[in-house]
Amino acid sequence: MPDKFTAIKGMNDILPPDSARWEWFESIVRQTMTRFAFRDVRTPILEHTQLFARGLGQATDVVEKEMYSFEDRADQRGQADNLSLRPEGTAGVVRAAVEHNLLYDGGKRLYYLGPMFRRERPQRGRYRQFHQVGAEALGYAGPQVDAELILLAAELWRALGLSDWRLELGCLGQPDERRAHRAALVAYFEAHADQLDEDARRRLHVNPLRILDTKNPAMQALADGAPQLLDHLGDASCAHFAAVQDALRACGIDYRINPRLVRGLDYYNLTVFEFVTGSLGAQGTICGGGRYDYLIEEIGGKPAPAVGWAMGVERVLELLRQKGVAAPGAAPDAYAIVPDAAYFPRVLACLQALRAAGAAVQLHAAGHADGGDGLGSMKSQFKKADACGARYALIFGGDELAAGQVTVKALRDGAGAQARLSLSDTAALAVHLKSP
Ligand code: HAM
Repeated sequence: MPDKFTAIKGMNDILPPDSARWEWFESIVRQTMTRFAFRDVRTPILEHTQLFARGLGQATDVVEKEMYSFEDRADQRGQADNLSLRPEGTAGVVRAAVEHNLLYDGGKRLYYLGPMFRRERPQRGRYRQFHQVGAEALGYAGPQVDAELILLAAELWRALGLSDWRLELGCLGQPDERRAHRAALVAYFEAHADQLDEDARRRLHVNPLRILDTKNPAMQALADGAPQLLDHLGDASCAHFAAVQDALRACGIDYRINPRLVRGLDYYNLTVFEFVTGSLGAQGTICGGGRYDYLIEEIGGKPAPAVGWAMGVERVLELLRQKGVAAPGAAPDAYAIVPDAAYFPRVLACLQALRAAGAAVQLHAAGHADGGDGLGSMKSQFKKADACGARYALIFGGDELAAGQVTVKALRDGAGAQARLSLSDTAALAVHLKSP
């Protein structure tokens, strides 16, 4: 047993004041999703391990070595399920759509926001519990939806005040095109077998595409010279890719074609894309996604096309923090200072009315170390008012209360002069506390 408990490595507590930035971010996400007609979906954090193995691909890093999986307790018949914490959201959303026959009356535009789990080596921007916002458009085949999803992400960056990103775009074609490319790739790497590192040799016949993603500088030249998938695409795939690009250009979204864009999960075909920032070091991918027209069938549904993306919330929030984007609503509007414990019942009644009228007010409350009646001196109360970031102190002194008033004192520049205001019109007082 440890002497002191700590959070599990790679899993973070989200505490005030940071949690205010999270709330603000989540509210922007929900507003933006609503404007794009995407609807909230919430699936369980635990799923059958097999869902991810089948859905994401047995040979992916995520399934091979990063899932938190365990054998559940046996049921009455002695059968135990193997379960996993979800490493991503797409497989669960697709499972739910198939299970509840969501596509019976046409396509569905769904989004989610929540924790995901991957047992990766923790570092800045890479955690074992992290959060994703994801958007999935199920049941749509046309390139318009691919473009619309990219526009949705771009609109989120705009609404959040982020401009430091670039969009990388690729096309993975269809399975037969990929098979032809894969054969060409294997032949190429086999012809250069002496230059392959151990990782590449292991991947050669399991997933040769991943070799293109090598981080080994000694293999860069070899990877650069490899046959390109874009040269193996047929007419339909080329037309789909061109239509996505036309739509992006028409909407003024800059992009860079990356012929080697390799996503870490196996379910993709046709369009793939990533939003990358230069401001986060090695973990610069803030959003990734693409088309996955075969996943629904793979998971047991009637064949239906789909496209989606997910963004890493921690990474986006770190970007916001770096850029100094301030989240509104982190501090209360006012802090109530109460010189005498006898006034509390009346003060509480006033605060109740102010809160009902929309003001955020924190009441000075006794701390266990404050001594006396526990309230502390006026000076220490003012110190606490200042420390909590409130714009105003509300001073509920005996004189004020006798006159049915409260003294409103500005604690921040620009919040106006000190004034005594009537408690009979709490709505007006609340407006005063909230006014810019
Ligand atoms: P992914 O590329 O594996 O795609 O993850 C999407 C994003 O989640 C990444 O770009 C990154 O920002 C964030 N992310 C991933 N792993 C971590 C981590 N360990 N720590 C912090 N952030 C991380 C998917 O998950 C797909 N389900 C996306 C998708 C949806 N494709 C179609 N629909």
